[in-house]
Amino acid sequence: MERYIKENVEDWTKVGARVTQVRSTNDSLREQVKAFAKTGHVLPEGYSLKADFQSAGKGRLGRIWEAPPGENLLVSYALSSAGLRPDQLFLFLQNIALAVHDAVAHFVQREKVEVKWPNDILVGERKVAGILIESMLKADEVSCIIVGIGINVNQQGFEEGMKATSLAQSGGREIELQDVFLTLTQKLQSAQDHLKSMVAIGDVYSLQQRYHQKLFGLGELLIFRNLKTEKEILGRVLSVLPSGELKLDCGGKEYCFSLDDIRFLRKQNDVRHIK
Ligand code: BTN
Repeated sequence: MERYIKENVEDWTKVGARVTQVRSTNDSLREQVKAFAKTGHVLPEGYSLKADFQSAGKGRLGRIWEAPPGENLLVSYALSSAGLRPDQLFLFLQNIALAVHDAVAHFVQREKVEVKWPNDILVGERKVAGILIESMLKADEVSCIIVGIGINVNQQGFEEGMKATSLAQSGGREIELQDVFLTLTQKLQSAQDHLKSMVAIGDVYSLQQRYHQKLFGLGELLIFRNLKTEKEILGRVLSVLPSGELKLDCGGKEYCFSLDDIRFLRKQNDVRHIK
């Protein structure tokens, strides 16, 4: 198999590039990875592409990700699959979500930082960061994963009813983007190292346990939209399965939903949505 990534890089903060403007850091980084592979070279693991502004930033589920120039962190990393099979990719995603959680928590002291299924990061129940994970497959093997992360750092205004916030808004002071980038990169590197050793010994229980400790709404009644029927569902969050499905108790019966089945709308009694 053609290799895209060279592993065991000592310091991820030392490898990467920064551009002023790009359409999407995820798309540009993927092109870069492919262009490198064509010439027989591999990119070092943890190589990042940061942009001051994205003209076509991508969110999950085909949404757009908008950020005012120079105010937020917009970065993508090229990572290896950490020895995971394609059907285990949710573990990878959980691990990344926890690393981003920890980076955000480093800058936020007063409010609760949580992970909203599957991988949004919330501060005080408002979205502060989003993660877009795109895998590059070769002959059914995951050869490289592009992890795009947007963290609202110094943005002050958000669309009415969006339930979003920034590190500066919750902490009451401006924060250097570079400090957030360095903290995030270090958290990601140690999380990825940890994941590799957990996979090697076949024990990922502690990862799943920690994900549940940080999970927004665990044990609470939340309202979702059923995407097939367009009806609202009220369910108590029981757990997230290793497959990535969300297990809910809906009126005494247990159901498992994938991301294609339902969308989170709000907690009971809250009229605002987290996008
Ligand atoms: C989401 O919550 O919908 C995921 C948002 C991910 C946004 C980041 S910003 C850097 C990277 N490049 C993109 O085009 N998207 C991700």
